[in-house]
Parts: sequence; structure tokens; C-alpha cells
Amino acid sequence: MELIQRPRRLRGNMALRNMVRETRISKSSLIYPLFVREGANIAEEIATMPGQYRYSVDRLPEITERLLRAGVDKLMLFGIPDHKDELASGAYQDDGIVQKALLKLKKDFPDMYCITDVCLCEYTSHGHCGVLHGHDVDNDKTLPLLAKTALSHVQAGADMVAPSDMMDGRVGAIRALLDREGQTVIPIMSYSVKYSSAFYGPFRDAAGSAPAFGDRKGYQMDYHNKKEALKEALLDLTEGADILMVKPALSYMDVIHTVAEATNVPLAAYSVSGEYSMIKAGAQAGYIDEAAVVCETAASIFRAGANMLLTYYAPEIAGFITEGRIG
Ligand code: PBG
Repeated sequence: MELIQRPRRLRGNMALRNMVRETRISKSSLIYPLFVREGANIAEEIATMPGQYRYSVDRLPEITERLLRAGVDKLMLFGIPDHKDELASGAYQDDGIVQKALLKLKKDFPDMYCITDVCLCEYTSHGHCGVLHGHDVDNDKTLPLLAKTALSHVQAGADMVAPSDMMDGRVGAIRALLDREGQTVIPIMSYSVKYSSAFYGPFRDAAGSAPAFGDRKGYQMDYHNKKEALKEALLDLTEGADILMVKPALSYMDVIHTVAEATNVPLAAYSVSGEYSMIKAGAQAGYIDEAAVVCETAASIFRAGANMLLTYYAPEIAGFITEGRIG
């Protein structure tokens, strides 16, 4: 055979394969989603997400130390309050659960970079992401509450805020209030392209945030659409978003690719709860090799165009990078 090109030449051994890798993954691009709840001395496993826990504020050090030891120095905080009401007042109270967690984390672990999820669904009695008008979320009445929530997170020590509610104009509303209050250097990571997805099921169990009636299709995106992803991403940029996000990740690789190509800011991808639980369940049943699948999916999300990855597997992935399995 007179083959001029033999692609296998570059696959001959590991050193060579590692040299020609097109996608590099670094621990510095990993963000760990962390659930914090009211109460004391609690680390309770989430039934639908084996291996993931809700921590009370006093138990945050153990997970934070584990993350830092693994080389993960970024987290995204989700609050689980005791009290819920129509106006989500727990979201923007000085002594709200996320605010208390931030005070503790920034005092004990100043090197941990703390991003907060800004949404009202965990705090409303009805579980929707904003204030209701009849059975619909009132977009414009919700915006000031989201902005207030973001500001109170920043005042409690958040390094970055990440609105996930999908109201129109929320990035602009948050930016305006932060700026007015002198918080001009706090970046906004916008969940710009957030689809209405069944993959959020385990999260809603974890956070107790399933809507009491209806669904989120009136504000989250329809998974048939991709042009709309660009519309949302570009809108958020004009409103002042610093980082964009596509969520979920695995079923939306084409969207990650398209948004990465069309924009000039860093892009995050969120591998959501259902993606974690699917891999975990497959592994526990003995059907797939968990470590191998975690490495492959993580690398694929970066290959699609993401610059950073939110994942419940962050500490494990950091470990695989240390071992040289990926990276
Ligand atoms: C809050 C929020 C959700 C997730 C992140 N922020 C739930 C939802 O929109 O229903 C999902 C994250 C996950 O599934 O891991 N709105």
C-alpha cells in the first residue's frame, strides 16, 4: 500500500497523542455547583443525585476543603431556604441562606471564587422564577427583585453573579443596580441560553424548586430552537453580560458551538443535574465505566467550544487531570 497520509502515525503512543491534542482542559475552568441549606450540622445526600449533598453553612468547610485540595477553586452557590413566600423575600435578605454562606466562605476560604445563582424559584411559594400575575410570571415586576438579589449577594461577598431566571432584560437590570451601588467590577455570567429541560429534574428535587403548577416553558427556551440561542446571547451582551452560558450541555453541543463561534466573550456550559444522575445511574448499574464517561463528556463539551464547565463532577475531573487521563 502506498499511503501518503496515515492518521494512525499520530496515535502511536501516549506522549505523542497528548502532544497533538486539540482540546486542553484545565482545572481552572471547572466550577462546582454547591447546595447550601438552613439548619446546623447537616450534610444530606440528595436522593436523585447520589454523591451530591445539601450542606448547612457550618458544614461547608468539608466540601470546600475537598474542592481546593482537588484544585477546584470556583463554585456556584444555590440556596435552599426554610421560608418561601410570594415575593421570594428570602432571596434578597441580608441573612438569607446564600448571604450567610458567602460570609462564611469568604471568611474561611478567601481563595475560593464564589459565583451565585441568581433566581427566585427556590424562594417563591409557587416555585416559579419570578412574581406571579395570575398564572404567568410578570417579567417587569420580577426584574427589580432579581437585581436586589444580585446586589445582596455581592454585598455579602459574591465574586460574580449568574442570573438563571430567563426574564427579559434581567442582565441590564442587574448591571444597572450593581453600577449604581458602586459594584462596577463585579462580572455577570448570564445563563443566556437556558432551555426548558427535563434534565433539571434532579436539581428541582435537590433544591425543592419544582413549580407548583404548570412549567417553565413561558420563560425558558424551546429545545427546537437554535437561532433563538444567538438572539438571547447577543441581547445579553448588549445588556452587559461578561460571560455567556449554554445550559444544559450534552444535548446542546451544537448550540455551544454556534454561540462560541458567533460571540467574543468567554462561554460557559452547564452539565446539569440530569446529566450527572444519568451517568451515575448507568455506572451504579454496571452498564458504563463512570470515570471514562465523565472524562469523555467533559472533553467533548470543551471541544464543542465551551471555555469553562459547571459540573457536579468537578472534583473528580480535577483528579483525572492530575492523573493525566485528560487535560
Ligand atoms: C434556577 C436553576 C435551575 C438550575 C440552575 N439554576 C433549575 C431550573 O431552572 O429549573 C438547574 C441546574 C441543574 O439541573 O443542575 N432556576
